[in-house]
Amino acid sequence: MRVMGSPLCAAALLALVVISVLLSLLLGSLQLGARRRLSASGSADARGSALRHQLNERRKEIIPLLSPFGRDGPPPAASQRRPGEPTSGAAAPRDEISAASGRGSAPDEMGCGSLAGVRTVDVLGSGYTKLVVKVVLPRTDQPVALKFVNEQGNDMEKCLQDFQDPRGCHELVSYKIKKEIVLLQRLKHPNIIELRGHCMGDAGRDERGEEGAGKEGGRVTAILEQGNPFQMIQLLQSPWEERFRVCLGLVRLLHFLSRSPLGSVALLDFQPRQFVTVSGELKLTDLDDASVEEPACRADADCVLHFPRRNFTLPCSETLGVCQRLNEKRNLYNAYRYFFTYLLPHQAPPGLTHLVDHIMNTTGELRADINQTMEAFEHVLLLYKSGLHLDNLSPSIIRDYTVMRGMATSGNVEYRCWLSYSHQGCVLSVHNAQEAAFICSSHSQCTSFSFSGQRTWTGRLLASFRSSFSHLVPDGTSEVYLKKAKPSV
Ligand SMILES: Nc1ncnc2c1ncn2[C@@H]1O[C@H](COP(=O)(O)OP(=O)(O)O)[C@@H](O)[C@H]1O
Ligand SMILES: [Mg+2]
Repeated sequence: MRVMGSPLCAAALLALVVISVLLSLLLGSLQLGARRRLSASGSADARGSALRHQLNERRKEIIPLLSPFGRDGPPPAASQRRPGEPTSGAAAPRDEISAASGRGSAPDEMGCGSLAGVRTVDVLGSGYTKLVVKVVLPRTDQPVALKFVNEQGNDMEKCLQDFQDPRGCHELVSYKIKKEIVLLQRLKHPNIIELRGHCMGDAGRDERGEEGAGKEGGRVTAILEQGNPFQMIQLLQSPWEERFRVCLGLVRLLHFLSRSPLGSVALLDFQPRQFVTVSGELKLTDLDDASVEEPACRADADCVLHFPRRNFTLPCSETLGVCQRLNEKRNLYNAYRYFFTYLLPHQAPPGLTHLVDHIMNTTGELRADINQTMEAFEHVLLLYKSGLHLDNLSPSIIRDYTVMRGMATSGNVEYRCWLSYSHQGCVLSVHNAQEAAFICSSHSQCTSFSFSGQRTWTGRLLASFRSSFSHLVPDGTSEVYLKKAKPSV
């Protein structure tokens, strides 16, 4: 029997080989696709669970900051409690804060309803986490600052890179604002920005759920007293009294934080831009990086405060296992390096320089604690207000001037002086006419000065110094002091 022709046989064999190669290629690519899909869904799962972990961590961070009884005081007695109501306010922050928002807010606190129909007037500032805008509330015509998540900020950007989940990231960043709201509720002080209210949902929906102007739903908004962003350059050109006011406000704030209702609070991101001023008073506005934990330690070597130019080793309390007063010292040294160095020594009144130098030395070396520093500041304030630092002024200097009461000047020729309250002329604060006479005598251009009854925050008088004026006009509360002509010899 003849076997099949060999060319036919070779072709069939070739086709078989080609088909099997194609099949194995197809199978391989199917397997690879499946593997890729599996790993992609695996990393999405991993990202999702990492984000959930972070959300949980942020939530846990807020719990210790909540009042043991929540915002509304002690819980009602068991008999008064409605079924299903929690026994304590220390619930998860999500519940706690939402209880305080809009619908459940206390009558004195603004909620989502008060944001209906607001007009955005200006952007006040932005940072890594938050965007702050000035709005006018239509019901009261009152300007307030609104803080919410900065969608373009570094926090959102980083989260989106890591997790690729816009909703989850918004929630994660919102926790920083929630933390700030809780801290602002618990930490009330004249040098901390006042929280007027907050909204945890649709801005513009009032308590009855009626819609207002707010379109963006579900965002966390803090409603705050409006301040002016802190401007170091501007303050450096201001009178010493205003610069001292800022430092004193900071010291009073740090004193409060060292013994706050939450314990000793450290400001981890301590920079001038975390503060604003309200009518010249310094107020802390950025609290989301505050920590109420003193670091744990076993030995003093665990309690080192690192700063760019120097380090400080603080004692470790072996019984408590925490670094003693590290939060307080960290805040104080930051106050020294960011504020005191620039604002305090420059043009301090001569009678106070030794006290100011002492403050600079003790805080710069961390030899004084916050109590001693505050005492030193209050002592300077007392001397300055009472004029006791001026005891070496010659009382006779006022005799060189003629006083005209109930008069003001008109047709003034002004001159400008350093650190004046007015940019057009020379306006300085003085304790009394004697100090003003001393200043006028030391300015070659000065021929007269006057008081209009205006006072600074310390109660000192504002005096206007000038080169000349054309005539006097009656003015009930004013006084003019005119330099007497020197008798010619
Ligand atoms: N109540 C306010 N009034 C005026 N400006 C404010 C107020 N709160 C914050 N700002 C300005 O907005 C900026 C950003 O606010 P901040 O809370 O510091 O956000 P972030 O946490 O992103 O740094 C601040 O640096 C400050 O200049
Ligand atoms: Mg900030």
